[in-house]
Amino acid sequence: MTRSVPGSSSARSTAHSSVGTFPATRLRRNRSNDWTRRLVREHEVTASCLVLPLFVVEGENVTQPIDSMPGVFRYSIDRLTEVVDEARALGIPSVALFPSVDDALRTDDARESWNPDNLVCRAIKRLKSAVPGIGVITDVALDPYTTHGHDGFLRDGRIVNDETVEALTHQALAHAAAGVDIVAPSDMMDGRVAAIRDALDRAGHDGVGIVSYAAKYASGFYGPFRDAVGSGKRLSGDKNTYQMDPANSDEAMREIEMDLKEGADMIIVKPGLPYLDIVRRAKDTFGVPMIAYHVSGEYAMLRAAAANGWLDYEQCLMETLMGFRRAGCDAVITYGALDAARLIKRQGRK
Ligand code: PBG
Repeated sequence: MTRSVPGSSSARSTAHSSVGTFPATRLRRNRSNDWTRRLVREHEVTASCLVLPLFVVEGENVTQPIDSMPGVFRYSIDRLTEVVDEARALGIPSVALFPSVDDALRTDDARESWNPDNLVCRAIKRLKSAVPGIGVITDVALDPYTTHGHDGFLRDGRIVNDETVEALTHQALAHAAAGVDIVAPSDMMDGRVAAIRDALDRAGHDGVGIVSYAAKYASGFYGPFRDAVGSGKRLSGDKNTYQMDPANSDEAMREIEMDLKEGADMIIVKPGLPYLDIVRRAKDTFGVPMIAYHVSGEYAMLRAAAANGWLDYEQCLMETLMGFRRAGCDAVITYGALDAARLIKRQGRK
């Protein structure tokens, strides 16, 4: 018998691998009709498992295309409301906001990040009143607000941890005061989940959730995102001293376990496709809500290949999302969320 891995989903399937032999067993029988395929289908992608990431800019009536992310735009708050309304109508439960902040507001101390009237806080307020019923998730990290584009404070060439964490708690509190549902620390500083949880609770925001980017890797796939928020051209050096080494899996389990102990409600693995093993391992180990971030570079690859006529965008997007589900994701943050939800609706899937 094939060796099975304890505690993993493959234990189930391999343990029964000898149930039938050809010709009595013909696995193609179950695949022979649409109705049998539907009957035995193990996973599904619905609008409910999608999170739509959105870029926000200042101004009115602004819809700015992003060169490296065809089909994705930066929206001013008024336009954002319309897109979020469409997302809600399609059954997408939540959106994740990322600000593209005016360069003049970037400072060494990133103070704009906790300004109660900053772009993100105004977007939260507007969405919570204009589009009731949709979840609003905000990124907690300093990179949109620092002159150097790092997620934390830079002192003598080092990203300092504890001072950064303190700033992150101010940022999270500002978002909570504006009415955010969930904050998502994506900075990868040590101890930030506990600090944010404590700060939120003390301020009476015990209902505000934390979805933690617990296993966030130092990845080349963030390139187009950094164009979208204008931090790429500024970034001095790399993020290797805080984001994870793509070579490590055990370390991801330590990160996730610590964040759960510190109070994280859900866990994000990021990027997505190259790290599906981390999703599966974490789901099997901890059994907590898992979200993968199908990041900008992954989305850009699909779009670029499709633009060349090399693959079918919709089919490959849906196959990608199914891969996330199969690997153990409860939800996926994807720039293709609207496309996927529209397709699901068009198909009128049961
Ligand atoms: C930064 C942040 C990044 C992304 C989300 N938040 C990039 C980075 O770490 O430099 C990337 C998302 C994407 O590529 O789609 N806090």
